[in-house]
Amino acid sequence: MKRSKVCIAGATGWAGSALARGVFNSDDMELVAAISRSQAGKTLERVIGVDGLDAPIFATVEEALKTSPDVLVEYTNPDVAKHHVVAALRGGAHVVVGTSGLSNEDYDEIARIAQEVNRGVLAVGNFALTVVLLQKFAEMAARYIPHWEIIDYAHADKKDVPSGTARELANRLSRVQESKLEVPLDQIDGPVEARGARLQGTQVHSVRLPGYNISLDAIFGMPGQKLILRHEAGSSAEPYVDGALLAIREVGKLVGLHRGLDSVMEF
Ligand SMILES: NC(=O)c1ccc[n+]([C@@H]2O[C@H](COP(=O)([O-])OP(=O)(O)OC[C@H]3O[C@@H](n4cnc5c(N)ncnc54)[C@H](OP(=O)(O)O)[C@@H]3O)[C@@H](O)[C@H]2O)c1
Repeated sequence: MKRSKVCIAGATGWAGSALARGVFNSDDMELVAAISRSQAGKTLERVIGVDGLDAPIFATVEEALKTSPDVLVEYTNPDVAKHHVVAALRGGAHVVVGTSGLSNEDYDEIARIAQEVNRGVLAVGNFALTVVLLQKFAEMAARYIPHWEIIDYAHADKKDVPSGTARELANRLSRVQESKLEVPLDQIDGPVEARGARLQGTQVHSVRLPGYNISLDAIFGMPGQKLILRHEAGSSAEPYVDGALLAIREVGKLVGLHRGLDSVMEF
């Protein structure tokens, strides 16, 4: 069996290091390179403490691509993510995007380039199975309940707002319909910011406070009743590993941009 060659941008980070262990323990893939500025020149074995994981760490995507990965996983930050994705596509790799905070404009450009070079990009705002299920349930609810809002919670130092999970959910719900506002935003009394940001037809409120782990409420309201779909993440990065491994296995079968893990799952 040919093993898929994988490069992880951000393999020394919280999410990337858990995934690096997952790739290392998978028979059908091989970690050939990692990207991190501060640990460049070392091997992952030394940095994340996994015996035998001798993948070299490079400071730039250009150097890492010389190892000819089949798939690059982007797990760094939104400032550099698009650069990594575009370089990888132009270098002939398929790409899995785990990083949150890329805009819809970024994704429009990525989609165009992926088509142009005949490669797949699978962008997943949250690889956890419980989030994939929340997204599916929310899509079902939005078909019947036209009023909803999203609240996205995270630790105080998470810079990107709204979270990748909230952005992806808003994007999905926009394909069902736009959430209705009984009072249009230009007719409210008070600061419009109090109603959150309108993102692809959904009001999204981002709470950033110490003491919070990443979590999300999708609230659907009807007269006299409401449905609250809530996802809570724990503090470990383990829930994201299996979904990311599935994305690495499947992205090579895709061409163009695909968003959400459910695009490669059966329901
Ligand atoms: N999709 C999902 O399910 C999921 C799950 C968890 C996290 N995330 C997202 O994944 C991203 C990473 O999260 P994290 O918590 O793992 O972050 P983190 O712990 O801060 O790790 C970031 C990693 O990226 C590297 N990096 C940062 N800037 C870089 C640059 N300019 N060039 C090269 N490497 C760079 C860092 O290494 P150096 O600093 O040494 O360069 C480090 O290895 C975030 O956007 C987060 O929201 C998504």
